[in-house]
Amino acid sequence: MTTLAHVSDLHFGRPAVSERLDALRGFLDGVGPDAIAVSGDLTQRCTNREFTQARAYLDSLGEIAPRLVIPGNHDIRWIGAVARNLGFVGLLREQAHILKYSRYRKYISDDLSPSLEVPGAVIAGVNTAHGISRGSLTRRFRDLGVIGHVKHADIERVRAAFEAADPAAARIVMIHHNPIRGELSGRHGLANTEQALHAFSDLGTELILCGHDHQDAVHTIEKGAHGLVISTAGTISNRIKPGRASSFNLVHTDADNLRIVAHSWKKGEGFVPSEDRTFPRHTLSRPT
Ligand SMILES: [Fe+2]
Ligand SMILES: [Fe+2]
Repeated sequence: MTTLAHVSDLHFGRPAVSERLDALRGFLDGVGPDAIAVSGDLTQRCTNREFTQARAYLDSLGEIAPRLVIPGNHDIRWIGAVARNLGFVGLLREQAHILKYSRYRKYISDDLSPSLEVPGAVIAGVNTAHGISRGSLTRRFRDLGVIGHVKHADIERVRAAFEAADPAAARIVMIHHNPIRGELSGRHGLANTEQALHAFSDLGTELILCGHDHQDAVHTIEKGAHGLVISTAGTISNRIKPGRASSFNLVHTDADNLRIVAHSWKKGEGFVPSEDRTFPRHTLSRPT
């Protein structure tokens, strides 16, 4: 049995609640997961101070288990994102691109789409946060720069990570933006949802981990011959939807099943199990 902790939207800065962050770390320390996956939005305003705090916290999680982290839309610098994508050319354009991810790279990692294999599971992280860019254009003005997309090069990275992994390992993709419309927000996180889900499915992905919507949810979706499970982790911060609680998910996988247990924050009790779903794995129908 492999156990993964899936945590999202820490939002260091004003929304961060140290009581919940401490409780989460204590909880994970007790569980002893095989890996901790953090699906972006480490900061609220992408400041040096917030990144310093996020890095220290991630390092403390790293003492519990290997961790895999990707950026969210709050972790990129707006000025770089705008300059990069609104018509600058040549060197300036390149500089702007470097600026966009400069703080994430400085404090967290140079690798924006890292992957991690542990016994029983391979997780391919995909950066979907590109700011205002051609691939993320949307008719909804308020979604500009918030919505994400999956780049072709990253799909090839997922392919390489899966091909290099143990064939029996559960194939998992982690992105920041939710590909399923949020129940309360009514919003998709990705601009190229259909295309991305088909591509991931064709690579034999069994589970997609995401965040961004700040509401925990577990969905299944049928793409081609393969069932795809989508697990959205809520936020640990106080940027929660009305009537919802801070939450994270535990993923348990063995040769037969994939089980997702959401844990929600209850005042006075800490994080307690709130939803428990089990799905049969589809390893036999994996493409060759
Ligand atoms: Fe967020
Ligand atoms: Fe986000």
